[in-house]
Amino acid sequence: MRLVLLMLVAWVTILTEGAASEKRLGVRAPRGSKWWSLANLGELSHDLRAPVKKLYNNPSLLPLTKRQRRLVTRNPGTVMAVVNGARMAIDECKHQFRNRRWNCPTKFESHRRSIFGKILQKGCRETAFVYSITSAAVAYSVARSCAEGGISTCSCDNRVHQRPAGEDWEWSGCSDNARFGHKFSRKFVDILEKGRDFRYMINLHNNEVGRVHVTNSLEKRCKCHGMSGSCTIKTCWMELPKFRGIGARLKDRFDGASQVLPGNGGMRNRKENSVRGRGRRRRRFNFSPANTMHKRPGRRDLVYFEDSPSFCDRDSSLGLGGTKGRECNQSSLGVDGCDLMCCGRGFTTEQYTVQDRCQCIFEWCCTVKCKMCTFNRTRSTCL
Ligand SMILES: *[C@@H]1O[C@H](CO)[C@@H](O)[C@H](O)[C@H]1NC(C)=O
Ligand SMILES: *[C@@H]1O[C@H](CO)[C@@H](O)[C@H](O)[C@H]1NC(C)=O
Repeated sequence: MRLVLLMLVAWVTILTEGAASEKRLGVRAPRGSKWWSLANLGELSHDLRAPVKKLYNNPSLLPLTKRQRRLVTRNPGTVMAVVNGARMAIDECKHQFRNRRWNCPTKFESHRRSIFGKILQKGCRETAFVYSITSAAVAYSVARSCAEGGISTCSCDNRVHQRPAGEDWEWSGCSDNARFGHKFSRKFVDILEKGRDFRYMINLHNNEVGRVHVTNSLEKRCKCHGMSGSCTIKTCWMELPKFRGIGARLKDRFDGASQVLPGNGGMRNRKENSVRGRGRRRRRFNFSPANTMHKRPGRRDLVYFEDSPSFCDRDSSLGLGGTKGRECNQSSLGVDGCDLMCCGRGFTTEQYTVQDRCQCIFEWCCTVKCKMCTFNRTRSTCL
């Protein structure tokens, strides 16, 4: 009996510790996220290609930490790839979420704030997506840049060419260096996630999910050589698909994201996380799914621990605008439909006309002649 009581006390202690750390989670600003504001550098200044010493002190790199600055100066050319990656991530996030209540709003105020706003202080699905898409974009952009000769410490990845070739083709050409991209992104993006509490483990996991989807999306591309298109010799290399494809995969993982429990999963992870291999941290977290009927999330699954806000109404504490004024689709039953998008508040519909080319005919040779027609369109907007 006494033993049972003791166990009960221990259990309750564990539970309340979990709850306490969850409370703390809400107030902390996302520390590792300032580099995203590099996306807002105007015309990329020539200085960013400058000699290494100058680069370190370049004011444009203010959003970076010292360690991040050291990393980019040690790998000349990576700043451009990071800037590019941040832009790709923002574009892709906006694209994938264009028809949803939360449509990946971004705002640039200062280096001190995250460009994605306070949604990052939550631990919901949207937070998970932002972390994964940004770290994926850095991995992707660096991998590409290596292959294009933009970074002086990496080049094409010829290691993949050591795998056996096929009967009718051989390895040749330049493969995107996903391996280097992955490693760089891990160092650069994860640098501020210290892994001391549950939120950081979630972030680290989701960062890694993004990168894994990049690495796993490498595709074999081939080219034929020989007289007039005959394929006497076929050479192949590994190439990353368009980033849109990776955005779509991550969006799928968003839809099927796994809600996990803070607490017991977190404590096991803390231990694992502090084990450092030679320069490489092993990060396999054992999250416990909130629904015990669900399987544990794997390496490719996004995880979150908090329900999303409805995103219906303006919420200035989270910097959310709400869906008032958003366009909706009257004939859709999905999340872009007026019922769901406008959260039952109703909507207005207006008619408008657009001028567009129509009745085009091809004239020999070689012009296309069109008329200008007026089309009636309707637009619905949430009240
Ligand atoms: C509106 O929704 C319908 C039904 O889902 C779809 O066929 C149509 O393409 C959508 N329109 C726009 C402008 O997205
Ligand atoms: C557009 O709407 C106006 C007014 O309802 C109508 O007179 C006109 O015929 C419509 N045009 C087309 C191309 O449907």
